[in-house]
Amino acid sequence: MLLMDTPTLHHPRPVERLIAGQPTSDGAGVKLVRVLTQNLQRRLDPFLMLDNFGTENPGDYIGGFPDHPHRGFETITYMLAGRMRHRDSAGNEGLLEPGGVQWMTAGRGVIHSEMPEQAEGRMAGFQLWLNLPARDKMQPPAYRDIPSAQIPQAQAPGVRVHVIAGQALGVAGAMQRPVTEPLYLDFVLEAGAHFEQPLPANHNAFVYVYEGTLDIAGTTVPMQRMAILANTPGADGVALQAGPAGARAILVAGAPLNEPIAQYGPFVMNTNEEIFQAVEDFRRGALA
Ligand code: CO
Repeated sequence: MLLMDTPTLHHPRPVERLIAGQPTSDGAGVKLVRVLTQNLQRRLDPFLMLDNFGTENPGDYIGGFPDHPHRGFETITYMLAGRMRHRDSAGNEGLLEPGGVQWMTAGRGVIHSEMPEQAEGRMAGFQLWLNLPARDKMQPPAYRDIPSAQIPQAQAPGVRVHVIAGQALGVAGAMQRPVTEPLYLDFVLEAGAHFEQPLPANHNAFVYVYEGTLDIAGTTVPMQRMAILANTPGADGVALQAGPAGARAILVAGAPLNEPIAQYGPFVMNTNEEIFQAVEDFRRGALA
């Protein structure tokens, strides 16, 4: 039997903190849990926000996210269940389906809508906001729909990994981005399965468990908790061990930008002046 050779870590990172998300609503009344909130933006630089949505109740999602602007960063939407239609002012349109990812670079500005394309059934997934370096914030907007079949998978005993960005077990993900070098992995772990992922010690990283439980360096991470991984000097990665019921979890990591963060709602720039400019540009219709 040939088993895939997994890397062996010498100094796996411990968990620094466990975070419970905050139930909130956004868009036209969509209920969601904000896992990465504004007070964690410096700690988890270059990531600005993580929302987890998941419900069987159409009343929790049917309003969707009507037209709204963004400037200065990227939004990464990963669907686990359900279908959402995306339209934007750059003329892009796409349908997000289960297992698919939409990677949108707002750059200097885009106005878009994200609306459910179903009136019943389960809707679940994540939206992650990834900051852009100052020099790229005003780049032209860009957009990519990546259907489930185009997201590479890596396998190890008891483990399947959807490699959305970065790489795992030598498998390159669907997206590679410069500067922040984001890693975005979605794990399906059988009961007791073990997995090791190398990570540069200076990259900020977190794991969010959305089914079952995980053990990370002796800390049990329950369902619907985010574990912020310590940036211990000399640490070489993270070791995940699934609990008795198995686990589903995402691992997100990236190189910090170490630049000032100025946010006003859907605009994320470096200075207040740039925020005033974004609001002014939106008001006079220059974002579309
Ligand atoms: Co949006």
